[in-house]
Amino acid sequence: HHVAVLLGGLSSEREVSLVSGRECADALERLGARVSRVDAGRDLAQVLSQLQPDVCFNALHGEWGEDGCVQGVLETLNLRYTHSGVLASALAMDKAKSKAVLAAAGVTVPGGGLFNRFEAARDHVMAPPYVVKPNAEGSSVGVFLVFEGANSPPQDIVAPAWTFGEEVMIEPYIRGKELACGVMDGKGMTVTEIIPRTGFYDYEAKYGEGGSTHVVPADLPPHVFENALRMSELAHAALGCRGVTRSDLRYDDINDILVLLEVNTQPGMTPTSLIPEQAAKQGVDFDRLVQWITEDAYA
Ligand code: DAL
Ligand code: MG
Repeated sequence: HHVAVLLGGLSSEREVSLVSGRECADALERLGARVSRVDAGRDLAQVLSQLQPDVCFNALHGEWGEDGCVQGVLETLNLRYTHSGVLASALAMDKAKSKAVLAAAGVTVPGGGLFNRFEAARDHVMAPPYVVKPNAEGSSVGVFLVFEGANSPPQDIVAPAWTFGEEVMIEPYIRGKELACGVMDGKGMTVTEIIPRTGFYDYEAKYGEGGSTHVVPADLPPHVFENALRMSELAHAALGCRGVTRSDLRYDDINDILVLLEVNTQPGMTPTSLIPEQAAKQGVDFDRLVQWITEDAYA
């Protein structure tokens, strides 16, 4: 097969996608595929029209590659592609919209909502601790924790460099454990607890060497572990996702509350990423994982 691996792209997660894409392209070559590495720019439709691959492996993250736009281009070109389609991608990328759909499906999601960024920078819109984040970014880009006793909200959200929209998502901070659960073939894979070395699971903790410790399977009460699997499966289905997704959750172990933060339709495939690690724990090595994702595009 001729596989075009879409990587790089135009989003703030470009560097992450270059690593995910390189790993997946290398795996596909080991599997014997003919591989084209396509840095997904504005000329994507032209490039793919010329290449005419049998299938596109989408290793893009963030804006344009994860939000339904590239998926729409691929649909228009009548090309097969991995991971979720147009609607599921667009929904999952919009935190406010996906929370509404997930809540309606019975998934427990955080409270809070969208606020104008200038108002949110002027006053605390809720009692700290709370989390401020762009409505449609990944890899913790632009995420701020506002702790108890903080004098003012983060000012970066009104800096000229802020390119993440006029509204920000603000949610109460949920104390406790950071969890992630992959879904493959509609089934929860396993649950990982992430323990960041310092602060929270930010960009540095996600991709830096030794930035965080992963406990797989997470050490949780059985009912919580089970619930994390079921909520992630429910979320994947409610958004209409395909292939592999990863849900991010938090568990407040004092109040015994499990909350699903978001579904990632293009989960990272870097050496420090969670999905390859969960697959490996289940006896599916990286090459088999990439093979499964690619073959699922034909299903
Ligand atoms: N947004 C990053 C790539 C992830 O969810 O893994
Ligand atoms: Mg995300």
